[in-house]
Amino acid sequence: MMTSKILVLHGPNLNLLGARESEIYGSKTLEEINAGLTALAAELGMETRALQSNSEETLIEALHAAREWADGVIFNPGAFTHTSVALRDAIAAVELSVVEVHLSNIHARESFRRESLLAPVCVGSISGFGADSYALGLRALHAQLQTE
Ligand code: DQA
Repeated sequence: MMTSKILVLHGPNLNLLGARESEIYGSKTLEEINAGLTALAAELGMETRALQSNSEETLIEALHAAREWADGVIFNPGAFTHTSVALRDAIAAVELSVVEVHLSNIHARESFRRESLLAPVCVGSISGFGADSYALGLRALHAQLQTE
């Protein structure tokens, strides 16, 4: 069986996880989340490479570069979820399976968070399970890649 290669992409402010609004986003750091995904990926016969950036440009470049090496993407776009037509177009352009994940339930918060500009070009979205959203996202992507 071929090992699927997965880009784990984290958007703005997620470098502060653990310290940032922990009542909303939980106490795990980004490093702990990435380490958990590395372990789960090994169980599932996958490999992950993680990248966090606060810059829309870097996130777009990472999606473009993923065309060359990745089979799929787990993406928490942070606040760009609600604003970025450029990231939406990048996801559509690269034709990779992208699973959108959010720690918080974006539908249970402020009205400006209820819309995701990216969801329509993703395979699916997982929102509201804290750090487990990432693990659930990886499992969903694993199942999705089996069908492709
Ligand atoms: C988030 C939700 C976004 O609305 C917010 O801007 C974030 C984090 C989440 O994981 O719950 O930065 O993507």
